[in-house]
Amino acid sequence: MHRLFEEKELVVATHNAGKAKEIAALLGPFISRFYTANDLDFPEPEETEDSFVGNAALKALSAAQYTGKAALADDSGFCVEALDGAPGIYSARWAENEHGERDFNYAMERVRQALVDKGVEAQGAKASFVCVLSLAWPDGHVESFEGRVHGQLCFPPRGDKGFGYDPIFVPDGYEQSFAEIDSQEKQAISHRGKAFEAMIAGCFKALVA
Ligand code: IMP
Repeated sequence: MHRLFEEKELVVATHNAGKAKEIAALLGPFISRFYTANDLDFPEPEETEDSFVGNAALKALSAAQYTGKAALADDSGFCVEALDGAPGIYSARWAENEHGERDFNYAMERVRQALVDKGVEAQGAKASFVCVLSLAWPDGHVESFEGRVHGQLCFPPRGDKGFGYDPIFVPDGYEQSFAEIDSQEKQAISHRGKAFEAMIAGCFKALVA
C-alpha cells in the first residue's frame, strides 16, 4: 500500500523550469500550491547513488528536509542493453564534450562508438528510457515509481522535436524516432508519462475517487 499524498503543497525539486511547469500541469488537480527551487532556497544535492531510484529519492528527501514540505524529484536516463545499461544514470554526463559543454550529438555518437568497440551492431540494438519519480515527506517517508519505455537504436539520428537521446531511439511498435513523434504522443508512451501514471494511481487518485 502506498502512502496517500494528502498535503496541499508540493515542492518540485528541480532547477529545470520546463520540467517544473510540466509537473505542475500534471498534478494541478491535486495540489493547491507548488514551490520550485526558485521560490524556496534549497540546494541541489550531488547525485551520489548508483541507481535511478537512489538518486531520485536522495533529491526528494533532501528538498523535503530543507523546506519542511513534501517534495517530488525525478531521475531519468537512457539505457543500452548491450552496454550493460550505460549510459544509464550517467546519461547527462556522457554528453559533456572535451570543452565541458553539453552536446547530445557527441553523446549519441559515443553510444554508437561504444557498441562498435564491443563488436555489437548499433542499428537495432535494444535500448530503453527510464524515469523514477520519488515523493518524499518531511518525516523521511519516500514513495518511488518507475516508468520505462523499450525500443531500439537507429543511426544516423533522426528528427528534431525532442531532446537528449530522442533522435536515436525508436520505441517498440513505432517506425519514427522519439524526436519525430509529437510531444503529446511521446508523453503518452514515454518513461516519464508511465512513471506519472503509476504515481498518480498510487498516491493521488484515491483522493478524488
Ligand atoms: P535528468 O533526469 O534530468 O538528470 O536527465 C538525465 C538525462 O537523461 C538527460 O540529460 C537526457 O540526456 C536523458 N533523458 C532523460 N529523459 C529523456 C527523454 O525523454 N529523451 C531524451 N533524453 C532523455
